Amino acid sequence: MNVREVKLLISATDPKQYPKPIVPEILLVGRSNVGKSSFINQLIGRKNLAYTSNKPGKTQTLNFYDLDGKLRLVDAPGYGYAKVSKASRRQFAQMIDAYLKTRENLELVLLLVDGSHLPTKDDVLMLTYLKTYDIPTIVIGTKFDKVPRSKWQKHERDLLQTLAISEEYFIPFSSTTLLNKDLVWELLNEVALEEYK
Ligand code: GTP
Ligand code: MG
Repeated sequence: MNVREVKLLISATDPKQYPKPIVPEILLVGRSNVGKSSFINQLIGRKNLAYTSNKPGKTQTLNFYDLDGKLRLVDAPGYGYAKVSKASRRQFAQMIDAYLKTRENLELVLLLVDGSHLPTKDDVLMLTYLKTYDIPTIVIGTKFDKVPRSKWQKHERDLLQTLAISEEYFIPFSSTTLLNKDLVWELLNEVALEEYK
């Protein structure tokens, strides 16, 4: 898919605001600062479509990005940021839960974890939680450029072990070197072929 036009359809908090479920969607979740916005920007080839920053916790809504009317990427707020209040944690949980529960055109969840470290407890919890929904889920290990090449194999093994998944569910990625950008696009293209009427 060669994306010609990308539009932010809506930033929604409530299911009533979601766009019509007529196009397949991919939900992106991950800890604050894991590189979600960078991931979207790099995949789509736009510098600053999704807002990137050094301040964690910027995104507070579900942001629906439309790619040529064929596929949508849904950017969720980052979780696990220590300074976030209990109330916003609850709000986040409710928002994600409502989306996962009701979204009939959700085809794939991409869980982004910081691939340059080992997954946190929050990451493992999130994966366990996602598994309860029975929606295909792939883990993207971001910032892999920070891992020395000589350590890639062992590091990936350690990551898989911590997450308790096999390698077919994991893709190391880098927004800096564009490692595995093509592989991720293959995945996106497959999802874009789904049709709704
Ligand atoms: P929130 O919206 O706050 O949850 O953050 P986010 O997950 O959208 O992260 P964002 O894309 O804003 O990136 C956070 C920081 O990590 C920025 O300083 C990015 O430049 C940096 N970063 C993102 N991806 C990579 C990567 O692949 N490699 C390296 N080295 N840095 C990255
Ligand atoms: Mg972001």
